[in-house]
Amino acid sequence: MSDPHVLLLGAPGAGKGTQSKRLAETFDIEHVTTGDALRANKDMDISHMDTEYDTPRAYMEAGELVPDEVVNEIVKTALSEADGYVLDGYPRNLDQAEYLSEITDLDVVVFLDVSEEELVDRLTGRRVCDECGANYHVEFSPPEEEGVCDECGGDLIQRDDDTEDTVRERLRVYEENTEPVVEHYRDEGTLVEVDGEGTPDDVFEAIRGEVEAATE
Ligand code: AP5
Repeated sequence: MSDPHVLLLGAPGAGKGTQSKRLAETFDIEHVTTGDALRANKDMDISHMDTEYDTPRAYMEAGELVPDEVVNEIVKTALSEADGYVLDGYPRNLDQAEYLSEITDLDVVVFLDVSEEELVDRLTGRRVCDECGANYHVEFSPPEEEGVCDECGGDLIQRDDDTEDTVRERLRVYEENTEPVVEHYRDEGTLVEVDGEGTPDDVFEAIRGEVEAATE
């Protein structure tokens, strides 16, 4: 069996990052995430690309999509270095889905289904470690000591795009651009749907089962 090629789709806050991390560890594959890659390069100068804003940061803080040209390149490089992978945060529109189909084959596309109300609660309550990136929630998965990362002792902060107004804009952008991507994979017959509102352990077991079924 070759290493799995997994695409995890879902709205902002659906649990893609949480579950991708666990899948990558369990199947010993790469976690390829455009969100983390862009956050690590948010002040990169992209003005030569004739884009509306000069940096990824400006798009992200507005809750808008970073231009395809920037993101496609990140994904192409990351996938060329990975045997197996779980892809998180890409594709986010139909043009990106078309580009992805030209550079790799997917074994399974898992869609995490979560209601809008739950998404807003999860995102506005999320806290991340500014040292190691570990993910918490003030109510659903709080750290042992408030504001301090259990894993490395770093400070827990709120992401710039997790304020309520930006979360609403991200959900609008998702509905307009990424829901058609979900429908595209559904029509193609490669999409499996998982209830994303169980506990993180339950959601993980459901995804693991789908990945194993698709790759055995
Ligand atoms: P990105 O970082 O990809 O953000 P996102 O897709 O909006 O997703 P999130 O990271 O916010 O949520 P998640 O689904 O990973 O949920 P998580 O596991 O953290 O993108 C950010 C920005 O970058 C975009 O807005 C855009 O500007 C740009 N960008 C990225 N990719 C791009 C692309 N391809 N093209 C163009 N632009 C791009 O969980 C959320 C919270 O819920 C956490 O607190 C967690 O602890 C909690 N939680 C998780 N699971 C559960 C559960 N089962 N029960 C209870 N709580 C849970």
